[in-house]
Amino acid sequence: MIAVARNQEQTPSLLPERVPRHIGIIMDGNGRWAKARGLPRAEGHRQGTENLRRIIKACVEFGVEILTIYAFSTENWRRPPLEVRLLLNILETVIDRELQELHDNGVQIRHIGRTEKLAPALLRKIHDACEYTKDNRRLILNVAFNYGGRDEIIHAVREIVKAGVPADDITEDMLNQYMYTSGLPDPDLIIRTSGEIRASNFLIWQAAYAEYYFTPTYWPDFDREQLLEALWEYSRRTRRFGKTDEQVKPGEG
Ligand code: IPE
Ligand code: IPE
Ligand code: MG
Repeated sequence: MIAVARNQEQTPSLLPERVPRHIGIIMDGNGRWAKARGLPRAEGHRQGTENLRRIIKACVEFGVEILTIYAFSTENWRRPPLEVRLLLNILETVIDRELQELHDNGVQIRHIGRTEKLAPALLRKIHDACEYTKDNRRLILNVAFNYGGRDEIIHAVREIVKAGVPADDITEDMLNQYMYTSGLPDPDLIIRTSGEIRASNFLIWQAAYAEYYFTPTYWPDFDREQLLEALWEYSRRTRRFGKTDEQVKPGEG
């Protein structure tokens, strides 16, 4: 059963059951990519969005079911106002330009993150894009925009308190239901580009048992082959979830 031939000649193949169902990507390094080329940061962000289109296609090709991308964090408001404006504009532009193609490729768009602080016009655009694509089933694309993991947990706790949930009813399952990712499986694999080895407040609740993959490549250069490399490495890892090797690999050894 060959899902993906990693490299036709020298490699074995990825088995479908070893392809992560849910991948999160911290798309980092746009600014440094641009700086290394003597270009403005804006050009790095532009190339970053171009790359996103390629990676979404590759995820569809490899059979990934859910892709969560970190596009703008609750901490990114601390950047210089001009850059913040640019990043907010990019989302609008990307929706305008890519929506139809994403729809045609069976991508369902969802937003995770705070809606407060986002301009009404942008919110409407996000809402319309989610509505337009809501019946698509090939890939769920969660766009983490104005997203922070701690902020998400605070939001969930507030909603739980508002709903008057008794303390004894609070379980992991119920907290899951109050997260922005409610109804979706936890991420199996989180990729971060640009050489930074940290979570930066991304899916900190959901990633409790995710596998992490870090690469020095800046986001605009992280291509299909490198995604395949990450999937390949993921497929060789043993996920124990607290158990022993013997428990999770019955029949081996
Ligand atoms: C990632 O690239 C994009 C966002 C955080 C929105 P950066 O803009 O963080 O690029 P670097 O880390 O400065 O190189
Ligand atoms: C994380 O990248 C946020 C996104 C990719 C949207 P940052 O570049 O903001 O992260 P830090 O501040 O270096 O940790
Ligand atoms: Mg960065």
